[in-house]
Amino acid sequence: MSAGRLVILTGAGLSAESGLGTFRGAGGLWKGHDATRLATPDAFARDPETVLDFYRMRLEVASHAAPNPAHLALARLSHAHPALTLITQNVDSLLEHGGATGVIHMHGTLESGLCPVCGHRWTVERYDIDVCCPGCGHRPIRPDVVWFGEMPRHMPKIEAALARANTFVAIGTSGSVWPAAGFVAEAAQAQSLEINLEPSDIAQEFDTGRYGPASEIVPIWVDEVLATL
Ligand code: OAD
Repeated sequence: MSAGRLVILTGAGLSAESGLGTFRGAGGLWKGHDATRLATPDAFARDPETVLDFYRMRLEVASHAAPNPAHLALARLSHAHPALTLITQNVDSLLEHGGATGVIHMHGTLESGLCPVCGHRWTVERYDIDVCCPGCGHRPIRPDVVWFGEMPRHMPKIEAALARANTFVAIGTSGSVWPAAGFVAEAAQAQSLEINLEPSDIAQEFDTGRYGPASEIVPIWVDEVLATL
């Protein structure tokens, strides 16, 4: 695999070795927590305090995490590759903290607050029921993330990149959440590669797979791509 128009999709497995939990599998966030009570607009309307407690915990964990070698390798690639679309489902900012540019956050970002009334967005330090929007004073505020039942962000741009891609690579994602699970099929013209700890639910849809920890596999693969540029 080499240059051409490259689309990369990353998921929670990319940040697992930075200490952020994945969602599914043993110890996953959705094993210990009920997503329907924590990550839906209805849950926020019913019980904002419980939802904000969950996101306060996640923001605290993310703010102490450091990029791992996989984030750093993708950051190098983001500067060197002439036609890269780098998409993440992750709400952490570890790709950016590793130096990556142009990251498309299809599920939003944890570090950004969103006022449900005036739409103001800003960098938050903590989530709590008493935190007010600095724009209009409303509370409670919400995290600027995509919840179940909401539209992922930047879909027209993502779909255009998938339609043009020569290469599609999914890194550290289980392939169980739509629309991201459908990206490999949408990139119909592309050679596809899955990089994951183990074959995902949709491994059979990829042309090839490389399996092991992202911190080991991704830097090797990135060096191979850089050598072709
Ligand atoms: P998942 O938790 O569903 O899947 C994480 C994948 O990463 C699994 O296939 C693991 O095998 C793999 N993995 C774990 N550790 C790894 C490592 N060190 N190196 C490489 N791979 C590793 O997470 P996502 O697929 O990202 O959405 O989940 C997608 C969406 O579901 C999330 O964005 C979130 C969640 O509900 C929302 O909250 C809207």
